Amino acid sequence: MAMQTLATLTWLVALLHFSSPTTEEVKLGLLIPFKRTARLGYSFHRGELYASAMSIAVDHINQRSDLLPGKYVTFIWNDTDCEEEKTLQAMVYQLTQGVSAFIGPGCTCNTSARIAASFKKTMISYMCSNPEVSYKKLYPTFIRTFAIDTKLTPSLLSLLNYFNWKRVAIIYENVTKWIEMKTNVVKGLKANGIIVAQELLTHHTALYRPQNDSDYYRGILRKIKQEARIVIFVTDFPIAQEGMLHAYDENMTNGDYVFIIFELDQFQVGIKTDQPFKWFFSSHRSTLDRYDDVKQAFEAAFVLAVKSLSSKSYVKFTEELKIRSTDEPFNSKAYTGYLFQGSFLANKIKPPLYGAYLYDAVYQYAIALNKTLEKNQPATGEIIAKKMQNVQYDSILGYKIHFDSNGDAEFNLTLLDMRPIEKSAQHEMIPVGDFQIKYDNKTKKGEQIFVRRSGIAIKWPGGRTGPPRDSPECGFHGELCIGPNRKIRLGV
Ligand SMILES: *[C@@H]1O[C@H](CO)[C@@H](O)[C@H](O)[C@H]1NC(C)=O
Ligand SMILES: *[C@@H]1O[C@H](CO)[C@@H](O)[C@H](O)[C@H]1NC(C)=O
Ligand SMILES: *[C@@H]1O[C@H](CO)[C@@H](O)[C@H](O)[C@H]1NC(C)=O
Ligand SMILES: *[C@@H]1O[C@H](CO)[C@@H](O)[C@H](O)[C@H]1NC(C)=O
Ligand SMILES: *[C@@H]1O[C@H](CO)[C@@H](O)[C@H](O)[C@H]1NC(C)=O
Ligand SMILES: *[C@@H]1O[C@H](CO)[C@@H](O)[C@H](O)[C@H]1NC(C)=O
Ligand SMILES: *[C@@H]1O[C@H](CO)[C@@H](O)[C@H](O)[C@H]1NC(C)=O
Ligand SMILES: *[C@@H]1O[C@H](CO)[C@@H](O)[C@H](O)[C@H]1NC(C)=O
Repeated sequence: MAMQTLATLTWLVALLHFSSPTTEEVKLGLLIPFKRTARLGYSFHRGELYASAMSIAVDHINQRSDLLPGKYVTFIWNDTDCEEEKTLQAMVYQLTQGVSAFIGPGCTCNTSARIAASFKKTMISYMCSNPEVSYKKLYPTFIRTFAIDTKLTPSLLSLLNYFNWKRVAIIYENVTKWIEMKTNVVKGLKANGIIVAQELLTHHTALYRPQNDSDYYRGILRKIKQEARIVIFVTDFPIAQEGMLHAYDENMTNGDYVFIIFELDQFQVGIKTDQPFKWFFSSHRSTLDRYDDVKQAFEAAFVLAVKSLSSKSYVKFTEELKIRSTDEPFNSKAYTGYLFQGSFLANKIKPPLYGAYLYDAVYQYAIALNKTLEKNQPATGEIIAKKMQNVQYDSILGYKIHFDSNGDAEFNLTLLDMRPIEKSAQHEMIPVGDFQIKYDNKTKKGEQIFVRRSGIAIKWPGGRTGPPRDSPECGFHGELCIGPNRKIRLGV
């Protein structure tokens, strides 16, 4: 009895403590490569271009009375220079300052994610693409709002399933990133019963020279003819476009074959949506001279593209991001000269997407922490991270994004198909379908399914009214038919 009273008392004290009206600080530690992004190369990784997303997110959280009631969020930050050692030093510093979670880092994150786990702190990255941190046994507190390329397989699979294609060939690019991705895609497809008949290596986009490399590339398409009808380009867009021209020359674009191409560069998708002729435009003179052939070849192609960003909320966010870039504590000069609100200049520069990923990282942490506290669970890094697994969230990009069971954000792709533009000789690529998450009631896991857009038909080449089959009726080597005339099809 005495024990029970004591327990009740303790509980009461705890309750009083938690419901005390004084507000409690939740301090976040931002790790960001501010000016130097050495290893990543691309200058648009520079934090000075999007760091203010952190301040915007924190303000939005604090402004909402129903999010983390009785608490207010603050943050401290350190420049990591994209160096692992600097990142680790900054983490130790931030731990001594009492941060409850890490936002970041950019660049590599496997070692920092282990440290975060050992201190039971949630770590939410807006940029890191290390594949190994998806492994939750070692990295239980790590989450990311940045979709890594290995996450393409679910979309691809749902597309193949939709059209009942079970046999494919893969053309992949001679670049580490794409080679690794090819390995992942092949693994994922095979595990789901898809036959990968061929895996053929093509040139690095930057090194491809039509006059020297055409024969080799065309040979790849010739080989595929013998083995597959559904061809997936695991490559950058431009080299896939070259491949389409070879497919055209091999008479593979008249309806029996289907080609699947990726365009994962948001910037490029934006440009090509605004100026559709750029989908078929080449920087190689000899390919450009055959613009109409390339365009015709695209009748046999689908493009799996990241969603183009047109939502009002995102446009508003990027405006605010630029205007607040000069604020404390970042004092960025990155947009100097481009900040006249509403002017031509201010609209011209588009901030990198990392701003949105950073915003989402901070905001989704607040939502997850709120959920944890609401359920009276201890706010450990792992428990908070679990609230960011297998859920969908409203991204500042203007659409829903899904965190998978490892807390990795998934791509939100659309399927594009070619259409003539009315009253012109031009063509464009328009969305004919999307990928949605369907939750399995038993496993509670989300699975992607392909969903057609209503009222928009897919245009198949060669007058077809439906998708081609993935193999000739008797198989590529007659193996599916028996008998003297090889006319009787075996059950599939
Ligand atoms: C992190 O930032 C704080 C505040 O600017 C600074 O005092 C500290 O030295 C930095 N630590 C590291 C390791 O960069
Ligand atoms: C961590 O990432 C670095 C750089 O990508 C890599 O060289 C290293 O092998 C990784 N370590 C582990 C344990 O995966
Ligand atoms: C692929 O790249 C390697 C090294 O970068 C090179 O030796 C090889 O010839 C390339 N192969 C093709 C098909 O481009
Ligand atoms: C094509 O190959 C020739 C001989 O192998 C080489 O001299 C030339 O530089 C190559 N051209 C291009 C554009 O790479
Ligand atoms: C493609 O079709 C045309 C016209 O039917 C034919 O002349 C040409 O030889 C074919 N090319 C190949 C590579 O099959
Ligand atoms: C946050 O938690 C509180 C309870 O502590 C709850 O009333 C509120 O609805 C939650 N907010 C959100 C956005 O889920
Ligand atoms: C993509 O966005 C749609 C619409 O907002 C959403 O229903 C869907 O679940 C998202 N897909 C993924 C993979 O996040
Ligand atoms: C799954 O659960 C939802 C809501 O709980 C229900 O509406 C739906 O019918 C269920 N689906 C299946 C296949 O059981």
